[in-house]
Amino acid sequence: MTIRLGVLVSGRGTNLQAIIDAIDEDRIDGVVELVISNRAGVAAIERCRQAGVPVEVLTRELFDSRLEQQRAMAELFDHAGVELIVCAGFDQVLGPEFIQRFERRIINIHPSLLPAFARTLHAHEEAIAHGVKLSGCTVHFVTNDVDAGPIIAQRAVTVRDDDTPESLAARVLPHEHELLCDAIQRLAEGRLVIQGRRVFTLAPESV
Ligand code: GRF
Repeated sequence: MTIRLGVLVSGRGTNLQAIIDAIDEDRIDGVVELVISNRAGVAAIERCRQAGVPVEVLTRELFDSRLEQQRAMAELFDHAGVELIVCAGFDQVLGPEFIQRFERRIINIHPSLLPAFARTLHAHEEAIAHGVKLSGCTVHFVTNDVDAGPIIAQRAVTVRDDDTPESLAARVLPHEHELLCDAIQRLAEGRLVIQGRRVFTLAPESV
């Protein structure tokens, strides 16, 4: 089934680009119906223009409250017929109203092995400072518990003695792209089952 995607972005948009490329290359059976950025002038917006993907910029300043901003986002996604919302480098916490409206239909990519280094925009810096030997990335469902929703997939990357937050981020990033696209495709195929905190992947022949 072709899945209709909405993507939330705030920055350079390499995860968004990975999704666009995976659709082009038939690795995701999907279509990006709408991208919403909460920041103006970011590279992700330009990527949409290059790819001919519809994009809206809804910055916080345009609204009286974050609630109003997220209501507007939800309206746009609903209007576009979006079935799955992907937070791809989105730096705002989604409120309960938004999450409830798209329950179990929002996923996020986080650059750490959750539950370690959750609720931060500096996961690599914190991982290095903590001295962990393995870090990586996690794709998970978004719930009201920030970064604590059921985990879909994870990839581990070795932390080297000479790593900086930048060098570690650069090694994790390609894994983010693969993991996120793979999770979206499994959702498109209707193969993910959530049971409590656990997410199971059904075999292709059983769906
Ligand atoms: C990624 O590391 C993602 O895990 C984190 O923010 C970064 C966004 O990168 N949430 P990009 O905008 O997709 O290039």
